[in-house]
Amino acid sequence: MENTLSRSISEQIVIVTGSAQGIGECIARQLFQQGATLALADIQDEKVKAVQLSLDSDSRKAKSYYVDIADTGAVKRLIEAILQDFGRIDSLVNVAGLDAPKGLAWEITEEEWRKVIEVDLNGPWWMIQAVLPHMMERRRGKIVTISSISAHRPFPEHTPAYSAAKAGLIGMTTSLATQLEAYGILLNCILPGMIGTGTDINMTQAEKDAYKQQFPLGIVGPSPVAQAVSYLLAESGDWISGTAMNVTGGLWKGW
Ligand SMILES: NC(=O)c1ccc[n+]([C@@H]2O[C@H](COP(=O)([O-])OP(=O)(O)OC[C@H]3O[C@@H](n4cnc5c(N)ncnc54)[C@H](O)[C@@H]3O)[C@@H](O)[C@H]2O)c1
Repeated sequence: MENTLSRSISEQIVIVTGSAQGIGECIARQLFQQGATLALADIQDEKVKAVQLSLDSDSRKAKSYYVDIADTGAVKRLIEAILQDFGRIDSLVNVAGLDAPKGLAWEITEEEWRKVIEVDLNGPWWMIQAVLPHMMERRRGKIVTISSISAHRPFPEHTPAYSAAKAGLIGMTTSLATQLEAYGILLNCILPGMIGTGTDINMTQAEKDAYKQQFPLGIVGPSPVAQAVSYLLAESGDWISGTAMNVTGGLWKGW
């Protein structure tokens, strides 16, 4: 039996979903710098390809893939393609998601609710479910899923579906961590606060200032989230499973 523990990042083959831009791209760039071999997956085919080529123009240590994480068939094909290309998968970083869509309870349609749940909750689950047989067979693996502080401390303008989905990811992670500890598979969530990745692009200055006041350590971009991912994937994370780690610039749940 292979040991789960102690595979450094430079020895790992890592899937990063949502790596065409934003937090996922930042995570991918950091892991690549640390020597990981990457499978970059996103629904934005051209954009994720451009990120991959900017990292590794001869596509040996990084390859890009199309996936819609809400489509179970596409997710299964993705995992098969990655296994064919690289032979194994050590870690999965679930980043892809719809970032905090707006929506008031009395206005949100059934279609809008379902779309957020499909992508932000079901999508990471389909990814995990598809990769598990391989990890269980090898009795090792690490899975980090990007939830949000909105799971605990929602913002009023965001759709309740987003908080529901992000809270669901935490419950899913702790439940899976319990079921999979016997297989040497470690699962954790990271809960970012507001990350300046461009999602604030449509905000007025007044809205941005109001947000900033809620984050005691300011708003600094995606790098702290990438560092937290690396911490969990590296040997430093070998004794950590079932956690929901706040990376929020000091913003706390609020209760
Ligand atoms: N930006 C923040 O302040 C913040 C805070 C907390 C949590 N998050 C979470 O972090 C993650 C990344 O956020 P971001 O700010 O980088 O957002 P982003 O919109 O910049 O990036 C999201 C990426 O996911 C991809 N994606 C979306 N739907 C997909 C699908 N169905 N299949 C495959 N790929 C898909 C997009 O193409 C994009 O590349 C999201 O899950 C978001 O909910 C973001």
